[in-house]
Amino acid sequence: MNKEFPKDFLWGGALSACQAEGAYNEDGKTLTIPEVMKFNPKNDRKITKQIQINMEMINEAKNDNDIIKYPKRRGIDFYHTYKSDIALFAEMGFKVFRYSISWARVFPNGDDKTPNEKALKFYDNVIDECIKYDMKPLITISHFDMPIVLIEKFGGWYNRALIDLYLRYCEVIFNRYKGKVQYWVTFNEINMSVKAGAKTLGILNEGQPNYEEMLFQGLHHQFVAASKAKKLANEIGSKNKIGSMVAYFTTYPYTCKPTDALAMQSDDQMKNLFFLDILNKGKYPYYSKTYFEKNNIKLHIEEGDLESIRNYTADFVGMSYYNSMISSNDGEQLELTAGNVHSVFKNPHLPANEWGWQIDPVGLRYTLNHIYDRYNLPIFILENSSGFIDKLNDDFTINDPYRIEFLRKHIEQMKLAIGDGVKVIGYTMWGPIDMISSSTSEMTKRYGFIYVDQDDYGNGSMKRYKKDSFYWYKNLIKTNGEEL
Ligand code: BG6
Repeated sequence: MNKEFPKDFLWGGALSACQAEGAYNEDGKTLTIPEVMKFNPKNDRKITKQIQINMEMINEAKNDNDIIKYPKRRGIDFYHTYKSDIALFAEMGFKVFRYSISWARVFPNGDDKTPNEKALKFYDNVIDECIKYDMKPLITISHFDMPIVLIEKFGGWYNRALIDLYLRYCEVIFNRYKGKVQYWVTFNEINMSVKAGAKTLGILNEGQPNYEEMLFQGLHHQFVAASKAKKLANEIGSKNKIGSMVAYFTTYPYTCKPTDALAMQSDDQMKNLFFLDILNKGKYPYYSKTYFEKNNIKLHIEEGDLESIRNYTADFVGMSYYNSMISSNDGEQLELTAGNVHSVFKNPHLPANEWGWQIDPVGLRYTLNHIYDRYNLPIFILENSSGFIDKLNDDFTINDPYRIEFLRKHIEQMKLAIGDGVKVIGYTMWGPIDMISSSTSEMTKRYGFIYVDQDDYGNGSMKRYKKDSFYWYKNLIKTNGEEL
């Protein structure tokens, strides 16, 4: 059945502070993990190399004010251009704008007695600007921008002290934006932590004997923090809605061999469902206990932790969807390609973008049904899109039919999933304006409907230009998804 999108469907776009804001040392802000990550032009595009961040890199970066080497320090200057950028989102008719608040701006020393008023003033302005256009602000409380001070002073989320520090931060923003912000996401793509422990958990891999155990301990603290944040959000504002969020690594068995089906099931469990089972169902699933035993992972769980996780689960399932992967028991023989953080086995039936991320619109319908079936909760698609190379024409137009095609095909599948009966409440396309890539720190990997005239080395006028897809998305929102 090809159902229509609900009348109140939340169309919009999503950005993160650490890829867009720039102004890395303005108004009291301190450094974050993305700001110590160098741009490496020699990086092979098609391989996702997770850069291992260590203390040496951090110390080197702290003594260096370069914003060319460290592109996320300059971002797209959203800190100063938010007004005109949000006006462009409003012109497209966004009903919602997903944005993150930078913890290192609000609490520059991590454990400050009072929050940084200048930082809060900036977020007041961003939020008020959205409201001015009748656009709902949706706030991600932590989006891949672990404050360095929290690593230096506490060792990141491995330390239980972060639960209380995070809750103080939540308390400040829940109170400040009471009645203005209704939708919150506790942690961006919480399942990325297993592959990218430094940027999500602030736990550095310095050759500790059981690093994986440290990551799961840090995650346990985040699960407790998310549940307590949900409790707090409800105490402060009854209308608050808290979302979980994973990057869904949809996976298929490579063949119809039963052993490949088992490999798929186990990948799906530990890469995706584990996180949602805890955040949305409120308990550690049985298979995780087996996984911990097999891998010698022992968690330190304090009294009251499991109760909190059980009693305060998230209101909706948030997910991002970029690419799918395949699972097989004979994995060593299969060809690898890049994916979002994970390198994945190549699926012979799917095309891929320049960076090797496989394009799979049908997988979105499959995933939505799969999640809804398991959790029976509203789903918010918080990120979806693909990085492309765009060319600015002499007349300042940008023709990007490939982007339109990518989004159209995914939105078509989302519509079909709604027809299947899945409750999808919103769609925030990732990166409505070009910004610095999270994985590669390139500018060349563009996502936006709006082109930003800046190259990988920070050269350019920084002016904004509307791509063809800008007009396409505007019409799509105007017709509530009817004219795809
Ligand atoms: C998501 C992140 O995983 O992927 C975003 O939440 C990121 O921050 C997006 O930008 C796309 O990844 P990349 O590496 O192409 O920027």
